[in-house]
Amino acid sequence: MIVVPVMSTKGGVGKSTTAANLGAFCADTGKRVLLIDLDAQPTLSSYFRLEHEAPGGIYELVGTNEIRLDRIVSRTGIRNLDIIVSNDSKGQLDNLLLNAADGRLRLLNLLPVFKDQYDLVLIDTKGTRCITLEMAMLAADRAISPIVPEILAAREFQRGTLELYSELQAFARLGIRLPNIKLMVNRAEYVSTDARMITEGLRRSFGNDPVVQVLETAIPHIASYRKAALHGMPAHRYETRRPAGRKAPPCFDTMRSLAIEVFPEWEEDLERLSPNDLPPSPAPEEDQI
Ligand SMILES: Nc1ncnc2c1ncn2[C@@H]1O[C@H](COP(=O)(O)OP(=O)(O)OP(=O)(O)O)[C@@H](O)[C@H]1O
Ligand SMILES: [Mg+2]
Repeated sequence: MIVVPVMSTKGGVGKSTTAANLGAFCADTGKRVLLIDLDAQPTLSSYFRLEHEAPGGIYELVGTNEIRLDRIVSRTGIRNLDIIVSNDSKGQLDNLLLNAADGRLRLLNLLPVFKDQYDLVLIDTKGTRCITLEMAMLAADRAISPIVPEILAAREFQRGTLELYSELQAFARLGIRLPNIKLMVNRAEYVSTDARMITEGLRRSFGNDPVVQVLETAIPHIASYRKAALHGMPAHRYETRRPAGRKAPPCFDTMRSLAIEVFPEWEEDLERLSPNDLPPSPAPEEDQI
């Protein structure tokens, strides 16, 4: 089982969108995927239609150590894709964890109960530094950090995420290994030279970095990601072919190359999925939204 938080100390960079789309792509290739929504604002929890809703969610898992799967795991309409929804509407979890002796280590300690049921646990996190984000990082095997190609976002990554990372190094003394960070450029403008320069700059800065790797796959800024979310659909199902006249690749190709880069050990399985294997979906031109 691979545990991957999607994280950033900056809001609105595409964390929930990435968690939903990457999770669904892997699920469609047959991987058993569990999404965990650690953000008190339940964007990921409301992305997919739920076929079965468990009575509890993240509050029961993290707040009360509930590990009976039928009490906390809901099923989405997508095969192999389950979710622990965010039900911490009053934002109590952070306080609760701050006051618990094992606060930052709670998820690391709980996750082994999922290891026979799932191949991948993808965790959506809050776009600001908080104890739930630190807890997710300490439970992780690798992390994905979406970044928008703007100079201020690049600075925030250096200041916010890397500072958080260096403070968490203290846990190395307890034998906890911190995950490497896969920096994923999101909302890349195909026409903007600024965006290209910032992406190149990030690649240069982290060229030989032992912790941060800038992914080759950049997610283009195209309406299909937003529209897929409005339909409650994974982007790779929503757009399998490149629309005429657009330069950016179709969501299916982008999500596949992202999945392969993040999970190279699954390359063969991820490569095998073809648009023909997917259930039918509304064509973008029929889109009324
Ligand atoms: N590549 C993209 N192209 C176009 N729109 C995108 C793209 N990625 C994300 N978006 C849109 O940007 C908005 C913010 O995305 P999302 O909610 O995933 O960000 P977030 O990092 O989870 O935000 P928060 O910090 O508030 O949790 C959404 O409306 C989403 O549809
Ligand atoms: Mg979000």
